[in-house]
Amino acid sequence: MKYYILFGPPGAGKGTQATAIVEKYNLRHISTGELLRKEIAAGSELGLRAKSLIDAGALVPDEVVEGMIESEFNTVKGVAGFLLDGFPRTTAQAEALDKILAKTGETVTSVVSIMIPDEMIKERIRHRATIEGRADDAKEETIDNRIKTYHEKTEPLVEYYRAQGKYREIDGTGTIDQVRTNVFTLMDSLNG
Ligand code: AP5
Ligand code: MG
Repeated sequence: MKYYILFGPPGAGKGTQATAIVEKYNLRHISTGELLRKEIAAGSELGLRAKSLIDAGALVPDEVVEGMIESEFNTVKGVAGFLLDGFPRTTAQAEALDKILAKTGETVTSVVSIMIPDEMIKERIRHRATIEGRADDAKEETIDNRIKTYHEKTEPLVEYYRAQGKYREIDGTGTIDQVRTNVFTLMDSLNG
């Protein structure tokens, strides 16, 4: 099985690109953000606990998302692999992922990182707020906190995966079509 990590700051275009990637490479898209928003919409206990953290632009506890990921790995069949979007987001989550995969003798295949500058993060999220109505897109303060959380907690993973020779970065500032072409070129070269 292939285990790709789709990496990048908030608003970089991970969710946007994921649909085409999973279709082309027969992968299952797992977005921890989307799974958490489903829990909130369903009014589950987990959703209730997660909501205040997400609305503040903070991360939910590592164990919560680690459990979600492992259960998806164990239940989804008939795909060539997984595309992880928004996970891992802390060094602890990256280490937990390595442990989960080691149980079946597997490892992370590659990290595909879509990178955009902070100013563009804000533009993209402000634009999405007018379309999708995500609660964590509504307030400037929440967006600022998500950017801060990304730099503090998630960006160190660049070095974590670079040290393993697994990190590949592409410029996320072009059009959606340009970014998709660059992602496909990169992933084809990884598969080749
Ligand atoms: P999550 O849902 O993962 O949000 P995020 O990381 O903040 O990323 P986004 O979904 O905002 O951005 P995206 O890269 O998918 O961008 P998109 O394609 O939509 O997480 C939400 C929250 O859940 C977190 O803050 C945290 O609280 C919690 N959480 C989730 N995972 C967790 C974890 N592992 N651990 C702990 N907590 C966790 O694009 C954005 C907009 O830009 C769209 O409108 C799109 O149409 C547009 N766009 C995209 N590409 C382009 C382009 N090339 N040109 C112009 N516009 C574009
Ligand atoms: Mg997303």
